[in-house]
Amino acid sequence: MEQPVKNMRVAVYPGSFDPVTNGHLDIIHRAAKVFDKLIVAVLNNTSKNPLFTLEERMELLRQSTKDLTNIEVDGFRDLLVNYMKQRQVHVIVRGLRAVSDFEYELQMASTNRKLSDEVETFFMTSTPQYSYLSSSIVREIAKFHGPVSELVSPEVEEALRTKFPSPPNKI
Ligand code: PNS
Repeated sequence: MEQPVKNMRVAVYPGSFDPVTNGHLDIIHRAAKVFDKLIVAVLNNTSKNPLFTLEERMELLRQSTKDLTNIEVDGFRDLLVNYMKQRQVHVIVRGLRAVSDFEYELQMASTNRKLSDEVETFFMTSTPQYSYLSSSIVREIAKFHGPVSELVSPEVEEALRTKFPSPPNKI
């Protein structure tokens, strides 16, 4: 007879999410089907100058994933492996959009493995329609008041409108 699954399968999906895009949401929705619980962990990176504060990024993630019940949004400002140890989670989920992502992702996964042999990185390839999409592309389009409705959730679109309210000055 099959034994009941004792432990919940939990994973951490870390990132900057400045802001969360439909590409991130694609990974979140698919990972939420694979794992019992997915912790979306937002890095509070003090060396970067993000468009959205940590609280704003977390709130936009919460609003954009409100249809999912097994998601927790959290913030961290430590080495990822330390955060994972503290949360007692052993799986990192990262999305791969293109071959160009691979080198950086391999470096990160290998570094995390070196720092902790308790951590495994699981890669999910992005759905092809999002393979070009990044938070920096979204910020760039929004800065010049271009259309982002197909790239982000309505909540993020609204938040971007607030950040970039008036058309740029003509030179
Ligand atoms: O969305 P991003 O910016 O590609 O996410 C990168 C992130 C946050 C996953 C990565 O920078 C990270 O884990 N930073 C925490 C510091 C750390 O643990 N560094 C060692 C691994 S390179």
